[in-house]
Amino acid sequence: MIKLSALIVLLLVSTLHARTDKGQKIYMNTCKECHKSGQAMCKSRNMRVWKKVMSDNGQQLATLHTSSKKAQGSWEYFKNPKFSKDSKHLRDFLTTYAKDSGNIPACD
Ligand code: HEC
Repeated sequence: MIKLSALIVLLLVSTLHARTDKGQKIYMNTCKECHKSGQAMCKSRNMRVWKKVMSDNGQQLATLHTSSKKAQGSWEYFKNPKFSKDSKHLRDFLTTYAKDSGNIPACD
């Protein structure tokens, strides 16, 4: 019984990790040059808000950047089809560690 619950916990932890790992990497590689740490970014909004911002392949996030001159350096990325693929991983990362999630990223 104890062994079984240990196994279940292990499985849950590794699934959570796999789910957010990619998003965190994407954040590090693409967003961090202009924004603060991924942890600070995640914590800046509630889960519900992140889901909305990242719905429709991150449409709102893309528009927010492509309509701002200050974010010009990111236009190429947000207009690239790669972003719609990345957006799902980013959404997982951002919502998993959102302000109301209770989770803290293992590393930053
Ligand atoms: C070239 C720089 C640049 C890159 C790369 C970039 N951003 Fe931004 N981002 C900005 C700027 C500038 C603003 C402010 C836009 C404005 O209000 O005019 C902004 C605003 C935002 C906002 C809303 C305001 C806030 O700070 O909470 C979010 C959320 C955001 N970015 C997330 C991201 C994510 C996630 C990525 C990676 C996929 C990313 N950004 C990549 C420059 C960038």
